[in-house]
Formats: sequence, C-alpha cells, structure tokens
Amino acid sequence: MPQHLTIVTHPLVSHKLTIMRKKETSTAGFRKLLREISLLLAYEVTRELPLTTETIETPIETMEAPVIEGRKLALVSILRAGNGLLDGILELIPAARVGFIGLYRDPETLQPVEYYKKLPEHMEDRYTIVVDPMLATGNSSVAAIDMLKAAGAKNIRFLCLLASPEGVARMKAAHPDVPVVTAALDRGLDDHGYIVPGLGDAGDRMFGTR
Ligand code: URA
Repeated sequence: MPQHLTIVTHPLVSHKLTIMRKKETSTAGFRKLLREISLLLAYEVTRELPLTTETIETPIETMEAPVIEGRKLALVSILRAGNGLLDGILELIPAARVGFIGLYRDPETLQPVEYYKKLPEHMEDRYTIVVDPMLATGNSSVAAIDMLKAAGAKNIRFLCLLASPEGVARMKAAHPDVPVVTAALDRGLDDHGYIVPGLGDAGDRMFGTR
C-alpha cells in the first residue's frame, strides 16, 4: 500500500498554493489557481492506478499498449468546496463517474450530519478519489469515507489542498487504508477549526461568499 500521507512538493504546486493563500488574491484568481493545482495533484493521486494492456495498431505495427484497468474511476466531491478541486481533475479524467456528499455540522453535537448523497453504481469495483480542499478536523472527511465504505467502496484515496496534523491523525486512526495526498501540511487548527496559517474558508474564497 502507498504511504498514508503524501505531500506534493513540486515547485509549481508550492508556488501556486502560496498565491492562493494570500488574502488579496481575488475570487477569479483563486479559482483559476485551484483548477491548475488540481491538475497537478490529480497526477500524483492517480500514480498507483493499475494498468493492463490492450492490443492496438499503430501506423507501423501491432503492439500491446498500457491502459488503465477496470471500471471508470469514481471522483467524490464533499460539498461544496470539493467541487473546486473536482473541475480540474475532470479535465484530466473526463470519463470518471462523479459522486457528491453533503454534510453539515450539527450545532449541538458538532458532529457531521448527511444532507445529500449521490454516488455512482458499483462503488465496490471502482478506484475512488474523494476530494475536499481542506482536511481540518477530519470529521467530515472521516464521515464521508464511512459513507463510501458503507456503499461498498474499497480502494479509496483522499485528495486535499491543505491538511492539518489533527486531520491527518484523525483520518489515519479512522481509515488507515485511505492514503491522503495534499499540497501542504500546515501547523494546526485555530479555535474555530480553521487551518493555520491556512487560506481561510476555501468555499468562500472560490465562490466569493462570506
Ligand atoms: N474549511 C475551510 O474552508 N478552511 C479551513 O481552514 C478549515 C475548514
């Protein structure tokens, strides 16, 4: 199995992330960078995809050429910020099936509660990539992966932009079989569960809300 945490340290990823963190970066700029960075992260999170071969004809001769094995991938976005990562990845993997999971935090228990779930069929046969830009407390990520496993998913990866040590530890404890790929591991969480130094509320920054 690949290692539990992969930090993508490619200079283009680090540079783009720095611009995204800046508070003066506009909504349009943030969105554009998120799309670009998601392509680079998608490259990393799909590194272990299993290959098989098929027989093809080049203009010169017949060959056994590599192709990705199995059913189409499933990309699962945790609403709403996951959609920002999803768009870029879909450009690279246009045939992927797409699922959505919506969770809100119960104000009393502070636990995530499901309000929406729509997943592709045959999750048990698909390589699944869950996307959410911020792995903060890990509560919603763990709950989303619980839901995916209940739907039969087995081969799951989690892709985010920023992770906190608390979120990574929580994911590792709850889902040690799910590798996490991130562009950076930040220092921690503030009292409101925001990643520090972070980039603020990812959904607000990509959609221009407050
Ligand atoms: N969600 C966000 O959008 N930002 C954080 O820092 C933590 C959770």
